Amino acid sequence: MTARVSGTEGYGETADERVKQYESLAFADVHRDMLHLFPARPSRIIDIGAGTGRDAAGFAELGHTVTAVEPTQELLAHARRLHRQPSITWIDDSLPELDRVHASGERYDLVMLTAVWMHLDRTQRERAMARVVALLRPRGLMALSLRHGPVPPGRRMFEVTSAETRALAERRGLATVHDSERPALLGGPSVWWSRLAFRAPDQIKC
Ligand SMILES: C[S@@+](CC[C@H](N)C(=O)[O-])C[C@H]1O[C@@H](n2cnc3c(N)ncnc32)[C@H](O)[C@@H]1O
Repeated sequence: MTARVSGTEGYGETADERVKQYESLAFADVHRDMLHLFPARPSRIIDIGAGTGRDAAGFAELGHTVTAVEPTQELLAHARRLHRQPSITWIDDSLPELDRVHASGERYDLVMLTAVWMHLDRTQRERAMARVVALLRPRGLMALSLRHGPVPPGRRMFEVTSAETRALAERRGLATVHDSERPALLGGPSVWWSRLAFRAPDQIKC
């Protein structure tokens, strides 16, 4: 059996439950704080840690072309089965390196990192920031959420602050355009989320 990608611990074993949980949420509810920042015109979007594909499908329905990246095989299989829009390309790849994504040479108007960043340790987060910033087109947006509260059994998760994430992004030349917190839609009263969005400059230095 192949080893699990670092950060995905606990997902494959519970994939059927995750489908029920993640697909019970509406795209527009999950992202309601940041919807106004998302591209209005048909754009190229990459959803990293796409899970069951709920958001990839949401963006596809809005007319965007979506690359959905998911390393947990069980979730990827569910996602492909549930969301068959031809404008979604599924890729088995993982943070921090995203080697397959980078090999395509594509750049994106929006990079989504929903509920995935806190699965990376500090060293991985630093490397991942460099790799995801390099995927942005000029003026592109990166949208990210961080889970806070008790860690579900079997998961690898770190307490990651908005301040650290802003510092990492700003050091790479991005500007913070959104920073908010709110209680979780799922997971009970002890769980809350930070939501952050960052804008790339007009010209990106490689
Ligand atoms: C809480 S789920 C969120 C799924 C989806 N973004 C959503 O909002 O429904 C976290 C996802 O991150 C994925 N993940 C964990 N570690 C990862 C890594 N190193 N690289 C990419 N994805 C990872 C998991 O497999 C899982 O699908």
